Amino acid sequence: MLTIPSRPGTTNPISSLPGAAGLAGILPTADECYAAARALAQRLDAKLIECPPPRGLYLACSPEALWLRLRTPRRELAVRAQLSAGRQAYRADRASPRGEAIARACGLPRHGSRQVVDATAGLGRDAHILARLGARVTLIERSPVIFALLEDACERASHQASTLSWLARMRLIAGDAGAWLRACAAKERPQVVYLDPMYPRQTTRAAPGKEMQVLQALLGVVDTADTLLQVAQQTASERVVVKRPRHAEPLAGEPPDYQIVGRSTRFDVYRSTPQ
Ligand SMILES: C[S@@+](CC[C@H](N)C(=O)[O-])C[C@H]1O[C@@H](n2cnc3c(N)ncnc32)[C@H](O)[C@@H]1O
Repeated sequence: MLTIPSRPGTTNPISSLPGAAGLAGILPTADECYAAARALAQRLDAKLIECPPPRGLYLACSPEALWLRLRTPRRELAVRAQLSAGRQAYRADRASPRGEAIARACGLPRHGSRQVVDATAGLGRDAHILARLGARVTLIERSPVIFALLEDACERASHQASTLSWLARMRLIAGDAGAWLRACAAKERPQVVYLDPMYPRQTTRAAPGKEMQVLQALLGVVDTADTLLQVAQQTASERVVVKRPRHAEPLAGEPPDYQIVGRSTRFDVYRSTPQ
């Protein structure tokens, strides 16, 4: 398990991650990206490649971002993590504890801090909103590839002075959240554990969005988040919040204590059951 304090100057943070299964390799897209691509290839135990593979997943190190790309015979899809620019930054700049359903579900006060563990960190967007609204968030991600994207977003954000306050409230951990939560000492217990598992079933006939197609190609559609609910309830000192598609079954078939329902998603809130 590896802990990364999110501040500028973090060095070699993903060196001890396991290899990135399913990845064709890492492609530097410009001369200036060679060193970073080589270092990442070494850390992820992946190949450095000179051109995109004919099909499959690869990471592209470009000057503006680290991209996860999926190439098919007909097209190429790309995903990056981005916190300090684009749509995510626009949303975060306007976020308020009352306006954001996730903040209400996590019980974020208008003032003061709250400890949240985001046990399924993914590309970090939900954790970012919580950190922007004052929460201290521990982000745990078990996929080394997704973790590399997340770390890239935090590293790029750290170049802007305006991000340093919320970035300092985010701590990245690479590894399995179940193991981390089980090892959580009583005094380290967060008030809130937040879960946003991959949702395997399509609720409509439409194909999944581009981002979901890339993530499913990397991670598969089956998630072990069901098993996280119980350990999360035992670890959180106050509540567990689970993000679900609005009409989905509750996680692990467990009815929540209450729900905050939005247009397309809802947040199921479970009172904790500390052991
Ligand atoms: C739907 S994504 C989360 C998206 C995230 N909420 C966001 O705002 O970008 C789910 C993520 O949880 C991760 N995950 C699933 N089970 C995990 C576990 N036991 N420990 C750590 N990460 C896990 C997956 O690798 C995936 O990246």
